[in-house]
Amino acid sequence: MRIAIGADHAGFQLKDSLKKLLEEMGVAYEDFGASSAQSVDYPDFAKAVAQGVAAGTFDRGILVCGTGVGMAIAANKVPGIRSAAIVDTDTARLSREHNDLNVLTLGARVLPESRAREIVKAFLQTPFEGGRHASRVAKIHDIEGA
Ligand code: RB5
Repeated sequence: MRIAIGADHAGFQLKDSLKKLLEEMGVAYEDFGASSAQSVDYPDFAKAVAQGVAAGTFDRGILVCGTGVGMAIAANKVPGIRSAAIVDTDTARLSREHNDLNVLTLGARVLPESRAREIVKAFLQTPFEGGRHASRVAKIHDIEGA
């Protein structure tokens, strides 16, 4: 599995922690920045990560901002992306099983680091169930062409 990871100024510290987790898990990643507290615009990072996932260069993406919300809104503008701001491990697991979430977004200002790490583990370790969920996911992407 290959992961694209990005953050804005609000999320870069949590992103660094999550990069260490990915290393512990033996998961390959590419870091799209940001790497400092200097104010930047989250859509720039969401676009780069989401386009990498949509193109198939990466299997999944992880984005971190203050709440996770802006990153999810921006990532979902890229066709092929299914992104949500996740705040608990049950939703992380279900978003994989039912929705085949491919870009996880996290809020560094609203989540304890320990929970963010558990959410990332669930996101990476839970497979999509397919079956009845596959046709529903296909209908999501039909909306893109409507
Ligand atoms: C930046 O201040 C903040 O707006 C951003 O990190 C994010 O929370 C937006 O959704």
